[in-house]
Amino acid sequence: MENRTQILKNPSPELVLRINELYHDFEKDKYSGRHPEIYNKEKSRLESLFSKYLDHNVNYVCLDYGAGTGFVSGILANYLQEEDVLMAADISKEILESCKEYLYSRNFTCQIVFKKIDTQIIPVADNSVDLIVINSVLHHLPNIELFSMEAHRILSKGGKIIVCHEPYNGKQYSRFHQCLISSIKIFNEPINFISQVIGKSQTVESVVRKMVSIVSSSYRDRNTMLDNISKILVKEKLLSFQLSGTEIQKLVDVQVERGFTKEVLFKEVFKNFKLLDLDIYNHLGYCNGKLCNWLESYFKKRYPESGSMVAFVMIKY
Ligand SMILES: C[S@@+](CC[C@H](N)C(=O)[O-])C[C@H]1O[C@@H](n2cnc3c(N)ncnc32)[C@H](O)[C@@H]1O
Repeated sequence: MENRTQILKNPSPELVLRINELYHDFEKDKYSGRHPEIYNKEKSRLESLFSKYLDHNVNYVCLDYGAGTGFVSGILANYLQEEDVLMAADISKEILESCKEYLYSRNFTCQIVFKKIDTQIIPVADNSVDLIVINSVLHHLPNIELFSMEAHRILSKGGKIIVCHEPYNGKQYSRFHQCLISSIKIFNEPINFISQVIGKSQTVESVVRKMVSIVSSSYRDRNTMLDNISKILVKEKLLSFQLSGTEIQKLVDVQVERGFTKEVLFKEVFKNFKLLDLDIYNHLGYCNGKLCNWLESYFKKRYPESGSMVAFVMIKY
């Protein structure tokens, strides 16, 4: 019988897939509101990458993997024409329904196909896709090496993959700068910091959760949601005991703790691709305003290899 530590350290792929499915089924209506950072900061990045890598005189088959409510597809479809095909794929049936509703309401000219993902095998033929976009999804996947192999299999020769908004593990700052960054993060995202500290003890976490639940209805709803996921997993025998909310969240974002580095991404995971573009960014977390923007660009110049987010483009050669 597996214990808690083993499950968190080495969860089965089936467990991670099912947790993500349930979590995003429950999250579908709240998703856009909960992640404004993705919408605000990544839109212009995606627009400039699509302008750079898509040619109006060529027909494309594109795959938006982990399409969510259709943020990427809604931008990408503006660059596609009647003969082009856009596949929006996701593990959550509920979120795919929202995506369908959103994309159909926009009357795009390209053909749009929706695909429900069930396993780690992408249900798409070999060498049939010209562009894969995966925005804020890699860190949810149980096995990114397998995803890379699947992406390589379905891409045509010369096909590209755009990966955006993934957690990066670049922390080579001077001591002073590290302190400055940590202080800004604590000041800016105190709830994140507090929940990280509280999450270290299961007993403390459950007491604090109960106390905050009394005063905050959205927190109560979220706890109930995480609790329900845990109960369903026990019922389905994917777990033999319930996990806490923090533990469920860790398994949803299964790759976050590992974080990505250049070595992991390009020497181990995507070693069969050639790198075309790389941007390591976001030193301060979700910090807005003039001072933050200034500090961000200062850190970007000073530490080009550090940051907490990464975006990159690769080609199958
Ligand atoms: C953070 S959201 C990003 C959604 C969208 N790409 C965006 O930028 O708005 C992650 C999405 O990945 C999906 N997902 C998680 N695990 C998946 C898997 N193994 N295969 C396909 N989609 C997955 C989730 O259901 C969710 O819609």
